[in-house]
Amino acid sequence: MWSDQPRVNPTAQKPSSSALAQVFEPIRDALRKVEREFARHVQSQVDVIPTIGNYVKESGGKRIRPAVLLMAARMAGYTGERAVLYASVIEFIHTATLVHDDIIDESELRRGREAAHTRWGNHLTVLFGDFLYLKSMSLALTHDNLDVIRLLCDVTLRIVEGEIYQLTKNGVVDLSEEEHFDIVRRKTAYLFAGSAKIGGMLGPTTVAQQDALWEYGFNIGMAFQLVDDLLDFTGEQGTLGKPVGGDLREGKMTLPVIYLLRQGDGRAETLIRQIVRDGDATPDESRELQALLRDARAVDYARRVAADFVERAKRALDAFPSGPEREALSFLPDYVLARDR
Ligand code: IPE
Ligand code: IPE
Ligand code: MG
Ligand code: MG
Repeated sequence: MWSDQPRVNPTAQKPSSSALAQVFEPIRDALRKVEREFARHVQSQVDVIPTIGNYVKESGGKRIRPAVLLMAARMAGYTGERAVLYASVIEFIHTATLVHDDIIDESELRRGREAAHTRWGNHLTVLFGDFLYLKSMSLALTHDNLDVIRLLCDVTLRIVEGEIYQLTKNGVVDLSEEEHFDIVRRKTAYLFAGSAKIGGMLGPTTVAQQDALWEYGFNIGMAFQLVDDLLDFTGEQGTLGKPVGGDLREGKMTLPVIYLLRQGDGRAETLIRQIVRDGDATPDESRELQALLRDARAVDYARRVAADFVERAKRALDAFPSGPEREALSFLPDYVLARDR
């Protein structure tokens, strides 16, 4: 089903964070404005809201989705201020999903610091997430571009559906690859798709070009989540800024495990069922699982699938003439595949 080898990276630069910063240099000022907008719109007379808001803002985050929107808008020939506004809306939505997601996943660490709920508790943090969701929509309503607002509502609903669907599949060891992709599409890919398309909608683009940007963002988003999932097996907590090895213990079946189970190894299935049932893995069980994944080349498989989405993302950009913006956007999928944080 999937190609055996990722195609050779046509970009001369290695996909490191510093190379990414370099190709995204033209939107650096706009990204700074997104930070300012974020701080401005978490203001409230209820003190704890800006306190939590500034805490999550200052903990960083890669700001990939706003960067996609801003760069897509540039590629579409748009130079006005609305790109910053919609980029901030997207980061608000993303942040809302993260603070809620960490409660659901009982994950104590985010961006190298205590997650918001670890510090302020679940009650306040749920409501803070609600504040961000609503704030994002009220921000988007600053301009009466109904097509953009509809798209934002649509992708946000799909994220929530994705998180709910994922919960209903929690602990289901025989989750199929297709069911898993359905979760990934909803919880992650559509927000990337929307980010890229909204950027395109701001400029003088054809419907085909807007569709191509949706396709671009969607495929990056798929790759992004698949890489996030495999980093849960191969990454370092210190680099990622969030706990590793938790997905399976939490009952989340991701591609490396789905692939391993498909190989029909009875020992692997027993072990995986045991870890999911106990909600925990002993050091011996973790070591054995890692060895089984390695022998089956299960992480390699997940990376190949992600590489396939990366290629599709890059191909979608053919709908635009070449230039520095297209170059920058075409670099991002490679970075997503190579990232370690
Ligand atoms: C984390 O997204 C959630 C996933 C979709 C895997 P990011 O990795 O973009 O999170 P930050 O904003 O950079 O912390
Ligand atoms: C992504 O899923 C969460 C959302 C899209 C809300 P994960 O649960 O894998 O994200 P991390 O690993 O906590 O960042
Ligand atoms: Mg999570
Ligand atoms: Mg994850």
